Amino acid sequence: MTDVSPRHVGTTSDEEEAAYLEVALTEAQAGHETQHAPEPAPEPAARETVLVLDYGSQYTRLIARRIRECHVYCEILPPTTPWAEIAARQPKGVVLSGGPASVYDPGAPSAPDELWRSGIPVLGVCYGMGLLARGFGGEMARMERREYGPATIEVESSPTALTPRPMANWTADPYPRDRRSSAPLPDAGEGETIDSGVGDDKRLPSPLEGEIDAVAPLPRTGRAGWAVDSAESRDQSAWGGGEGIFAGLPAQIPVWMSHGDSLARLPEGFRVLARTPSGVAAIGDAVGHVGLQFHPEVVHTTGGLTIIDNFLKRLCGCAGTWTPANVVDESVARIRAQVGAGHVICALSGGVDSAVAATLIARAIGDQLTCVFVDNGLLRHDEAKQLMDTFEQHLRIPVVHVDASERFLTRLAGVEDPEEKRRIIGHEFIAVFAAEAQRLREEGTEIDFLAQGTLYPDVIESAGHDTVNAARIKTHHNVGGLPEDLPFTLVEPLRYLFKDEVRLVGVALGLPERMVYRQPFPGPGLAIRVIGPIAKERLDTLRAADAIVVDEVRKAGLYRTLWQSFAILTPIKSVGVMGDGRTYHDVVAVRAVTSDDAMTADWARLPYEVLAAISNRIVNEVPGVNRVVYDISSKPPSTIEWE
Ligand code: XMP
Repeated sequence: MTDVSPRHVGTTSDEEEAAYLEVALTEAQAGHETQHAPEPAPEPAARETVLVLDYGSQYTRLIARRIRECHVYCEILPPTTPWAEIAARQPKGVVLSGGPASVYDPGAPSAPDELWRSGIPVLGVCYGMGLLARGFGGEMARMERREYGPATIEVESSPTALTPRPMANWTADPYPRDRRSSAPLPDAGEGETIDSGVGDDKRLPSPLEGEIDAVAPLPRTGRAGWAVDSAESRDQSAWGGGEGIFAGLPAQIPVWMSHGDSLARLPEGFRVLARTPSGVAAIGDAVGHVGLQFHPEVVHTTGGLTIIDNFLKRLCGCAGTWTPANVVDESVARIRAQVGAGHVICALSGGVDSAVAATLIARAIGDQLTCVFVDNGLLRHDEAKQLMDTFEQHLRIPVVHVDASERFLTRLAGVEDPEEKRRIIGHEFIAVFAAEAQRLREEGTEIDFLAQGTLYPDVIESAGHDTVNAARIKTHHNVGGLPEDLPFTLVEPLRYLFKDEVRLVGVALGLPERMVYRQPFPGPGLAIRVIGPIAKERLDTLRAADAIVVDEVRKAGLYRTLWQSFAILTPIKSVGVMGDGRTYHDVVAVRAVTSDDAMTADWARLPYEVLAAISNRIVNEVPGVNRVVYDISSKPPSTIEWE
């Protein structure tokens, strides 16, 4: 192959088929105007939302993942998001991520000024801490050398006076400028100067100044805040086991540092909450603004999840209701509101995303959903049957099963080039789906909505543009451009979920474990694992060998540890000996990789016993195969698939 192949995208069969289906429906509906209800705006009050403003840290998504692990819904937004959009989500808290810039770089990204005045609890991490400190009138200084790596922080035993956190006011600036002038926080003390050399008069008053005494203290018990205003709270011992961001953690905590600026002057109303030998590690004020110089989201920070949980539950007052069961209820309500009396079509591929999306939609709107499964004859052993059984018998969701395997195999006969295989498969999908949509229309079912298994990472990547992802995959697979004006609306019930959350929702919906935890499988299926020309017998040989690989990997308890594990039918024949006779048969390759995202992958160090069992069984059980080899190449420079 000469190209830097456009197929090298970490995608799934679900995504790919959804893209094909969009094209197919667009073709089928050409000339038919459809009225659309826009997707309803999220109902922010209905769920606790925390926002993460992304300043470019490699860990931003990890912050979001951790927040969701604490059962709080969160969204990642660019820091340029207008304040009105942030406020419309009514966040219970905002996290400012780390980032590569220094707050002193020209043009360094900032946070909206309104945030400091809003009364919303804020957690600033690394770069975010710099923004927070400066936002409240403190100063950062560039360090001579970036501090990077493990460190141990010492939590201060009596860092601050603790006073109640007022409720955020969503409709108006609760801290009008003319009221934010003079009075210091009760017992907050003067801004602590750490290094008087940097800056002196840039101080912004704390947003609570002048407001604090208007707010009734919250009770000491309960989750509403770290906020306790009592003599007891100022006791030297109160902090260590106490009520705040480090509650439940020891006085010394191993953390992961990565920063180039450090705090030079503490903003007024803030105290140092923790230090390292080289400087300030954490600051906070009395109302839920916390800056951390280290990364609580990475596993190297012991207790980092507790720190995040403390922020969410104690400072933001979140109850933590983001659970799979609640996600199901909420999604069902959202789908009903969006679809109304319309009709939805959903393509099933056998993958987890389309299965979960379809099940959620079926639960919401019942027979207003038509599920279509195109059997292209390129699936693995028993996969088509398992899919149909699961939906029709187990879930009782009817599926239109289009057996197009003959059609696909006829079109693929004699084709060797992998990109040509992909092109033909994409083209055939579109043709079959378009015919199905047309048939439904002729039977009187107008299709208003197309279900897609778009996931949250796609949404982040495509900056919220609905069709970008589909278009990207389609471009990669040479299917042609999507029209700007799609004649239907997308229903994307998974667009708020990460992949592992989709799986948990799948389990909550009663989908079988095999489907929910299926390894990724490429849209072109076994066509790109039969190297060279495809014929039914060769597909059958591969299917039998592949089923053995999967079976042995499962038996060894490794299926979920591996990103993918499968067989490839090579175009090589080799000499063997069986009984007294010489054979000249096919060579099967086995590929098993570990990976996080398919962008890079390493060959799996499968135990010899597992490899031996796979090899023995394949040569003994699969007719026409006399040799098995194991692929020990990593990506890059190899790819996961062979074609
Ligand atoms: P490679 O082989 O590029 O694969 O390292 C990365 C991931 O993408 C999958 N893959 C595909 N998925 N259509 C798909 O839907 C394709 O044409 C395709 N090619 C590769 C592959 O299985 C792996 O997970």
